[in-house]
Amino acid sequence: MRGDTFDMVIFGGAGDLATRKLIPALYYLNKDGQIQGSSRILCTGRSAMDQAAMRDHAAGACRQYVRDSDLDDAALRAFLERLDYVKLSADDAGDFAQLADQLNRQDPDRCRVFFLATAPKLFATICEGLAGAGLNTPQARVVLEKPLGSDLQSATEINQRVGAVFSEDQVFRIDHYLGKETVQNLMALRFGNALFEPLWRRTNINDVQITLAEQVGLEGRAGYYEHTGAMRDMIQNHLLQLLCIVAMEPPTATEANAVRDEKLKVLRALKPLSGQAAIRDTVRGQYRAGAINGQAVPGYLDEDGVEPDSRTETFAVIKAHIDTWRWAGVPFFLRTGKRLAERRAEIVINFRPVPLNIFGADLGDLPANRLVIRLQPDEGVSLNVLAKQPGPAMRLKPVSLRLDFARTFKVRPLDAYERLLTEVIRGNLTLFMRNDELEAAWRWVDPILAAWKDDGDRPRGYNAGSWGPSSAVSLLAREGFAWHEEVEDGP
Ligand code: BG6
Repeated sequence: MRGDTFDMVIFGGAGDLATRKLIPALYYLNKDGQIQGSSRILCTGRSAMDQAAMRDHAAGACRQYVRDSDLDDAALRAFLERLDYVKLSADDAGDFAQLADQLNRQDPDRCRVFFLATAPKLFATICEGLAGAGLNTPQARVVLEKPLGSDLQSATEINQRVGAVFSEDQVFRIDHYLGKETVQNLMALRFGNALFEPLWRRTNINDVQITLAEQVGLEGRAGYYEHTGAMRDMIQNHLLQLLCIVAMEPPTATEANAVRDEKLKVLRALKPLSGQAAIRDTVRGQYRAGAINGQAVPGYLDEDGVEPDSRTETFAVIKAHIDTWRWAGVPFFLRTGKRLAERRAEIVINFRPVPLNIFGADLGDLPANRLVIRLQPDEGVSLNVLAKQPGPAMRLKPVSLRLDFARTFKVRPLDAYERLLTEVIRGNLTLFMRNDELEAAWRWVDPILAAWKDDGDRPRGYNAGSWGPSSAVSLLAREGFAWHEEVEDGP
């Protein structure tokens, strides 16, 4: 992105996502010299704000969300200089014409990024508004935030309407998990080392667990979350994308379509789950009052803006299978939830045990090797192996070979949005979802949601601060599996 000047227009420019993620990420990019020349950032929204008010708002966002040690006055001033505000209603052609005027005043041929940090129901209307004002030029890029639609039908409609005015290679569908450093590292681990590939298959792997556990609750987003729930908020996108990167075949290059073709094959190979099978192989939960880090927190039904009889799930587990030669029979356990015991995002690969314990029957079964790829809160990889305990007896103990990225590389990792914004400006689509991927993910998720609806049950309650309903443990236990945190790993 160095050397390129661009204009970025953020729709929903003073909203939650822009305030918490985009503005701080752009501050960092500007400070690091990644935003050049006369590049501008225009925030748009329906409220009447002027440039000064927008800059005040952005300064507040940086003070709240940028680390104190990274915030300095000169860098902040330089960043705010680039910011402006344009009042715009998504359905007002006149507003789009004014936006076009403003953009065309400077170098009409420069790269333009339209970042739609709005509700998905506005995506198509905004894209049509941009086209109506002649802003869908070949240099334009559109960034769409998840969730894209609420089911296959609405996602397809968005894709079709957006696709009628922008070509597919101009559309950047964000899943911010793909921008996380460790997700990139998973690619490096799998395809930069010869060590793992021969083991990466059903013959050696017992099960895979992907957990995105949060301690936060609704964070004032009841209006969004009530009709979204954990499945649409986290599984349809973040968890399935991680599953794709774990399970895909080696792509021939890191070029966008080479990677996306392989991810698509995984999504298409997911064994469909519907009806009774979907009920049997999934768990839904909703948090009750409890405590997080010793602080009492209310239950979901007592959160502001939540219906008293809401059935929205705040926790979900799915046992998924991928019908390919590489993965047939290996369960992929997907788990996410709010108000859980820890903030923890990780991918756990459990290998099969050794075929025979030669160290003595009294030692019982030897614990199997385990590879843990940790995304949050600290980023790293650890491999559990068995080693001999010092001493006269032949006693084996699991020990961990650890790679801690912060300690090893000693540089500040880019935040997911910094990386993704950089990739948008570079025009690199590798870390963004293609329309067919998105639709394949909804095609798998829709029948599970339908089964849940037909089942009519309330999600099972779990105490805030726990690991979810007990059925999340029994779902694994009934087939001899266990969640990572229940298994003693040693040091
Ligand atoms: C978002 C969800 O996509 O991801 C939120 O809408 C969730 O509900 C968030 O809290 C989690 O992201 P991260 O990067 O904090 O793990």
